[in-house]
Amino acid sequence: MWRNRGSGAALIAFLLAFHPALADNAAAQEPLPEDPESGLVVAPGWELVRANCSACHSTRLVVQNHKTQAGWVHTIRWMQEKHGLWDLGASEETIVSYLASHYGTQTQAAGFRRRPLNQPALESTENAP
Ligand code: HEC
Repeated sequence: MWRNRGSGAALIAFLLAFHPALADNAAAQEPLPEDPESGLVVAPGWELVRANCSACHSTRLVVQNHKTQAGWVHTIRWMQEKHGLWDLGASEETIVSYLASHYGTQTQAAGFRRRPLNQPALESTENAP
């Protein structure tokens, strides 16, 4: 028992350290402030996003989207190939990690979750003859 508790704590520490989403949730009890002008969440990297992602379209187009890290990289490559987005160089890593943390698929689930199904209506359908 004693030993198990020790390894439980180690597991939690491991998860917090190596699972960015869990660490984020633990740290993000308070909602992060948003820059009123761009709509971007003010967190490390946001100024790089504002500087690189607002020249051709509004940052609103960025904040209304939710993608995985791979999805954001894909969108960036697409804009680079088709729309003349420049090489983001050393900033790309910070930009992608900012986007995936604050406009990732986890935030989509929270922000755009549909209302629960109407349970009585479902039950009545199920019990219909
Ligand atoms: C050189 C111009 C340019 C820059 C700079 C630019 N984009 Fe775009 N982006 C576009 C164009 C063009 C579209 C297509 C717009 C449309 O469909 O109306 C687009 C569309 C998008 C979309 C919507 C399409 C999709 O697949 O979700 C997102 C999200 C997006 N950009 C994010 C970004 C991010 C993040 C950055 C900064 C890293 C950025 N953009 C910088 C040109 C640019």
